[in-house]
Amino acid sequence: MEHYKVIFQPETREVEVLAGTDLMEVMNDAGVEHDFPCGGMGRCGKCRLKISHGLNPPTAREKEILNAGEIEDGVRLACLTKVQNDMVVVTEGDKKLQHNILLASEERPFNIKPHLNKIFINIEKPAIHDQRSDWRRIKDTLRKNGCEYNDLTVPIRVLRQIPAVIREAGHRITLVTDGNEVLGIEAQDTSEKMLGMAFDIGTTTIVGYLLNLCSGEILGVASTLNPQTRFGADVISRVNFAAQNEDGLDKLHKTVIDAINMLIGKASGEAGVSRSNIYGVSIAANTCMHHLFLGITPENIAAAPYVPATGEPVVAAAEELCIEINPAGRIFVLPNIAGFVGADTTAVLLAAELEQSEDIKLIIDIGTNGEIAIGSKAGIVACSAAAGPAFEGAQISSGMRGADGAIDHVHFARQLEYSVIGGGAPLGICGSALLDTVAGLVELGIIDKRGRILNPDKLTNPAGKRFANHIIEHGGQPAFLLVPAGKTGHGRPITCTQSDIRELQLAKGAMAAGVKVLIDKLGIGTGDIKEVLLAGAFGNYLNPHSACVLGLIPMELEGKIRMIGNAAGTGARLALLSSDEYRKAGDIAGDVEFVELGSYPKFNSIFGECTYFTIQDKN
Ligand code: FES
Repeated sequence: MEHYKVIFQPETREVEVLAGTDLMEVMNDAGVEHDFPCGGMGRCGKCRLKISHGLNPPTAREKEILNAGEIEDGVRLACLTKVQNDMVVVTEGDKKLQHNILLASEERPFNIKPHLNKIFINIEKPAIHDQRSDWRRIKDTLRKNGCEYNDLTVPIRVLRQIPAVIREAGHRITLVTDGNEVLGIEAQDTSEKMLGMAFDIGTTTIVGYLLNLCSGEILGVASTLNPQTRFGADVISRVNFAAQNEDGLDKLHKTVIDAINMLIGKASGEAGVSRSNIYGVSIAANTCMHHLFLGITPENIAAAPYVPATGEPVVAAAEELCIEINPAGRIFVLPNIAGFVGADTTAVLLAAELEQSEDIKLIIDIGTNGEIAIGSKAGIVACSAAAGPAFEGAQISSGMRGADGAIDHVHFARQLEYSVIGGGAPLGICGSALLDTVAGLVELGIIDKRGRILNPDKLTNPAGKRFANHIIEHGGQPAFLLVPAGKTGHGRPITCTQSDIRELQLAKGAMAAGVKVLIDKLGIGTGDIKEVLLAGAFGNYLNPHSACVLGLIPMELEGKIRMIGNAAGTGARLALLSSDEYRKAGDIAGDVEFVELGSYPKFNSIFGECTYFTIQDKN
């Protein structure tokens, strides 16, 4: 069978592949970073790249998505391109977008109680008149030092190391223990060297905190875009990738493990410490990311009745998961609550201590799946609202993630004002800007209650009339022009189309309906909620007023909103630094009452109502 050469520029990477191979597959296998937001389904049109040599004629779908100029210029969709010639493919290379990743979060007091212990001992040397075994002498020394370990166990892996380590170390050794089990033996006194890394694995980003497990001090933070995005931007695309490809699950699992190992290397390198001093890693992740991290099929999460493989804490040996830390190290995975309310929500609840709160609080983590929890120490209910990818900028005509070039906020003053992440000419809008735009258009009366963009001659609001010339037709539908083609970084206009507004209505309708159902389930009124805590990246960047104007959060709660940052990361840190907190996480996951929105009485009519807009007229 014929082979062709594919050269990627500007990195000048070269691979040889079988004729007919999908370019997306070639890129994934070659490790060429590129976004495939719809998982290569040919739906989103966001995997554009330029082919400067070996161009195929455009497919029918490419003709629909790309404009004539782009097609002429050699722009194609990577997921719809097959290698049928030698090719030169131009990717974004070193112009790769810098993504905004949320690192900061609120702190709360807690007591450090490490999962693992280190004990330094100076054992007696053997002699002809003292022929006790090495292991026996270790146990005797521990007993002499007041450590009562009658049933101390040692695995063969450690037993094999003992003779050499104790002799090389002049009988001064440090034992690493987890309860009654010896996990490792080290030469000399290393009892002060106990580091760990706590991870929040999100669908889009991964953040890792390097910690001193004795003091709790954060020694470094490392983050990256979740490289699994090349298999799909959202959870469902990745589940499909795992299900439809023979080695799909393996690829997704290995990709996240590689990313974790890369971040461990980066954080430890920057802090000037050795990764072999890392003994613990904690993981907070949504249920799908949790399963992919553990190499468990996520297929049953995505199909009714949405059952995860486990809802309990999982402790694994580092070696078992190929996590490159000290071989004696352990991985502490926080527990899931349900198929779509994962361990990241458990971590958020742990950080916020909702289970101890006197006051009723509403916690929202807005994302592709918005997790919502309401409660207090009297009980907590939680649900997942299928918001879809609108808040992440996917499936929005000019949408993009919160990265360099994204408009992140829009303000309707006398003129349209906006801010761009990283400055410079804008490339698209991210979720927070979409929210600002639609909220502003609602207030200006440019969008009606049902979400329709009005004809300019139908505008009655004087402030809205100022923007009448922004109402255009784009791609055969009404749209609001945010930035004309001449002022953008790619020469295409940035718009908010009628379809984009429909997407947002579905997303905000799902979230708002989730809040309503939980309030109803608890039998409380909206006014009983004393505080609204917004967790996660999107919640941190959104304008609370816009969220309330759109009804995403009830308007009467506008003054009670507080951003708590990357609370899932905080929960992961607490669970790593304290075995008590980790146990608490297990209790939270077991005690929270999960509410399945789809089967809640009258959910469809609640959702339908929530897709409407209720506030208009800003003069
Ligand atoms: S169109 Fe190619 S990834 Fe969506």
